[in-house]
Amino acid sequence: MLNQQLRIKRLPVGVPVPEDFELATATVPDIASGDVLVRTHWLSLDPYVRALLSGRHFLKMPGPGDVMPAKGVAEVIASRNDVFNVGDLLVMETGMQRYAVSQAADAWKLHPGHQPASTALGILGVPGMTAYFGLGDVARLQPGERVLVSSAAGPVGSMVGQIARLRGAKAIGIAGSAEKCAWVVKQARFEACIDYKREDVAARLRELAPDGVDVFFDNTGGELQREVIMGRHLAMNARVILCGMVTQYNLDTPPPGPNLGALMGCRGRILPLIVYDYEHRREEFLREALAWHGEGRLAWREDIAEGLPNAAEAFCRLMRGENFGKSLVRVGT
Ligand SMILES: NC(=O)c1ccc[n+]([C@@H]2O[C@H](COP(=O)([O-])OP(=O)(O)OC[C@H]3O[C@@H](n4cnc5c(N)ncnc54)[C@H](OP(=O)(O)O)[C@@H]3O)[C@@H](O)[C@H]2O)c1
Repeated sequence: MLNQQLRIKRLPVGVPVPEDFELATATVPDIASGDVLVRTHWLSLDPYVRALLSGRHFLKMPGPGDVMPAKGVAEVIASRNDVFNVGDLLVMETGMQRYAVSQAADAWKLHPGHQPASTALGILGVPGMTAYFGLGDVARLQPGERVLVSSAAGPVGSMVGQIARLRGAKAIGIAGSAEKCAWVVKQARFEACIDYKREDVAARLRELAPDGVDVFFDNTGGELQREVIMGRHLAMNARVILCGMVTQYNLDTPPPGPNLGALMGCRGRILPLIVYDYEHRREEFLREALAWHGEGRLAWREDIAEGLPNAAEAFCRLMRGENFGKSLVRVGT
């Protein structure tokens, strides 16, 4: 049986280009005791993979010739595994390829409420969990508080604002186009959204949150982080959740650090968030998030590339910030 794979041709320098990757065919290996053979239906494109490709992530750095790392929604088509059977739909690390053989140690089964199945990689998967535990456990969000979130039209950011609203708090988003901001306000029902590429962020924040925000859920780092903290847009006892640093992932050397003295006046706290710390509590997240989804209370958007031949360009679009919604590859037949 032949496999189709997206492999790393050379490690990207700066913003990745499609030529950093290549499509390849390979024979699917036989499965050994404990293995499953899966066929991928959906593959996830994620900003952290760019950090992996620079060796700036705690997961193992891949190299030229390796299959591009990716989580997928995959169907078991052969099994010598005690836990998973033929026909099971799993979320697992598959790599960016049509078939994968694995012990499925990290795999979990989709619930009937994962409709469509691709939501298991977006709002009802790792991005949703990141928002859920980031707001609940790390920020300890209280009803009536005001949350500010960057990259608000993405799967993490859009869930941050929606969970905030469902918890009785208010959310302001920051996103990179008028179209994204319109979706954030109309579909995801944030109270407001600032188009940071066209609007004066400082002036808009002073107008929308004159007393500052209680939680700044930071998905980007960079200039927006500097403005929110140093520009004194934090309320007393604010919490800054360090979730993502997408403005740095394409840089070869990290920028010099800011002076965070402004945190002293407002007694603000910066708190790191790593979603993997909450892996053992996925069912708790799913119970609540699947119920919200089943009741039609969550908006979400997907940015779908059709087939593995389009996966490299889709990853590059994601890393140029041009995706709108959860970035996915539909593997197809
Ligand atoms: N801490 C954790 O455990 C954890 C877990 C999952 C994800 N994350 C992080 O959460 C963040 C959001 O992830 P996501 O999966 O929801 O993806 P995402 O929001 O779709 O991420 C891509 C978006 O980032 C924004 N962006 C801002 N500056 C950018 C730049 N310089 N280059 C490229 N894009 C830029 C763009 O939106 P705009 O047009 O709005 O700028 C782009 O559409 C990422 O930083 C990710 O690494 C962290």
